[in-house]
Amino acid sequence: MDENRIPLHIGLIMDGNGRWAKKRLMPRSYGHNAGMNAMIKIAEHAQNLGVKYLTVYTLSTENLLRPEEELEGLYALFRKYFKKNLQKLYNSGAGVKVIGDVSVLPEDVQVLLRDGENNSPKDAAFTLIFAINYGARSEILRACNLAVERGEKLDGSGLDAYLYTHGVPDPDLIIRTGGEKRLSNFLLYQAAYSELYFTDVLFPDFDEAELDKAIAEYSKRERRFGKI
Ligand code: FPP
Repeated sequence: MDENRIPLHIGLIMDGNGRWAKKRLMPRSYGHNAGMNAMIKIAEHAQNLGVKYLTVYTLSTENLLRPEEELEGLYALFRKYFKKNLQKLYNSGAGVKVIGDVSVLPEDVQVLLRDGENNSPKDAAFTLIFAINYGARSEILRACNLAVERGEKLDGSGLDAYLYTHGVPDPDLIIRTGGEKRLSNFLLYQAAYSELYFTDVLFPDFDEAELDKAIAEYSKRERRFGKI
């Protein structure tokens, strides 16, 4: 693989957990658990390849309308992940960041997420960014309102300072698994020039080789950023 063409930042829409579970006559929570395991492997592989930021769409604002039972299952996965996996990530020089409005999550989950961020190395070589109760439109509105409150007229890159992703470069590549071909309110402002990659593979089946395929495809694309 051409190391010069490794994306600095990858966004990942992890779709298809529910269908993966259904195919196995199992509850959706089983699919989310398999999705979490896939995510852990993908993050490790991305880090090894030299990717610096991986943003995973773990829960959209719209997902919060799902039945309480499914949400509880996802919160349980956050607890499990943040209690069991963070130390390994820190030991490898990596850290985590959370984007989205986490104020509606159970208090103990909020504490785990906050501690997870605060204990991350300051100069992390790799950052795993969890988009949780995240929606791009809300993020943009929030940013505009913050600027208005401060009496600031935004221009050019001004909005960037108020986005959750402040300080993080825009995603070079956005991958969506599970067959749908849309962004579903994920990083809409930041995705202006992102390369998009869609695959039918359901997220729990998205493994290291699938990530390699997505990056190989990305590396063949010519990025002009609107220029000729
Ligand atoms: C969409 O698939 C996926 C989600 C709503 C949740 C994604 C969460 C994970 C992959 C695991 C979470 C990881 C941690 C660390 C907690 P879907 O259920 O909408 O699938 P479907 O379209 O087949 O129904």
